Amino acid sequence: MKLSRVEPAGLFSECGGPPQICREQRDRIRYHWLRKIDRKASSPPKVLPVPHDEKTMTATPVFTARGLTKTYDMGEVQVQALRGIDLQLFEKEFVVLLGPSGSGKSTLLNILGGLDVPTSGTVQYLDHNLTEGDEASLTRFRRDHVGFIFQFYNLIPSLTARENVSLVTEIALDPLTPEEALDLVGLKERMDHFPSQLSGGEQQRVAIARAIAKRPDVLLCDEPTGALDVHTGIIVLEAIAHVNRELGTTTAVITHNQVISQMADRVISLSDGQVVGIEQNDHKLTASELNW
Ligand SMILES: Nc1ncnc2c1ncn2[C@@H]1O[C@H](COP(=O)(O)OP(=O)(O)O)[C@@H](O)[C@H]1O
Ligand SMILES: [Mg+2]
Repeated sequence: MKLSRVEPAGLFSECGGPPQICREQRDRIRYHWLRKIDRKASSPPKVLPVPHDEKTMTATPVFTARGLTKTYDMGEVQVQALRGIDLQLFEKEFVVLLGPSGSGKSTLLNILGGLDVPTSGTVQYLDHNLTEGDEASLTRFRRDHVGFIFQFYNLIPSLTARENVSLVTEIALDPLTPEEALDLVGLKERMDHFPSQLSGGEQQRVAIARAIAKRPDVLLCDEPTGALDVHTGIIVLEAIAHVNRELGTTTAVITHNQVISQMADRVISLSDGQVVGIEQNDHKLTASELNW
């Protein structure tokens, strides 16, 4: 497709209506982003005030967070969930965000994914500043670029696995088919089963298929194995790692379980709302090699 001009406000001024109405506009937006990514690749990298350990990375930063704080005002008490977070997530990497309960992991992930906004600081997604946008632009960002997986699967009980995934593929720009998405997580044989006919791990894999079916640029997983036993948790982690490898989706997995960090490319440790360590993992384990 060759277009004569690029819409400068493309992504974040798109209408939110059904796909048949917006198809042309969506194509323009996609083209705009591909052009942006192309330009990014061919132009010299921007100089960002990055922490020392990030300067060694050569991959494209997908997210750049600077000075993020989040304070919850609870009347008498103010809860400081984030106290100045600086980090980057890079294209195609598998990152574990590790920290104890209450350290700010979910708050951080929700801000990166556009579900919440920081009290101060900035989040950049590629070359777009997420912290400048309004609610509607964050919604479009989430819809077009982010897949979420939570501890609980949130499947619709009256729909089969295939139909749960179809809810996303029917409105996405360039989706996998539900069959392809379910095959990626090893559930091809169970496509026509309802959630009640599936185990917890299988339901979580349907939720993963649903999250990745739109080919998101980033997959954000908040304690995806939190409700599962060890064996089932490993199968779910295998599915997430498989998607990361096959689709090249930048993946961040929140956990308080140090063992899981052994399968990450990088481990970002949080404590009390701050990043207290960023480690490169030179000897990644597969999920099935984990032992806990
Ligand atoms: N909506 C909220 N309102 C008030 N406090 C919150 C809210 N969400 C999180 N917090 C507080 O912020 C801190 C960090 O929470 P969270 O990001 O959920 O941590 P984690 O995911 O690491 O367990 C905790 O002290 C928590 O109680
Ligand atoms: Mg949490």
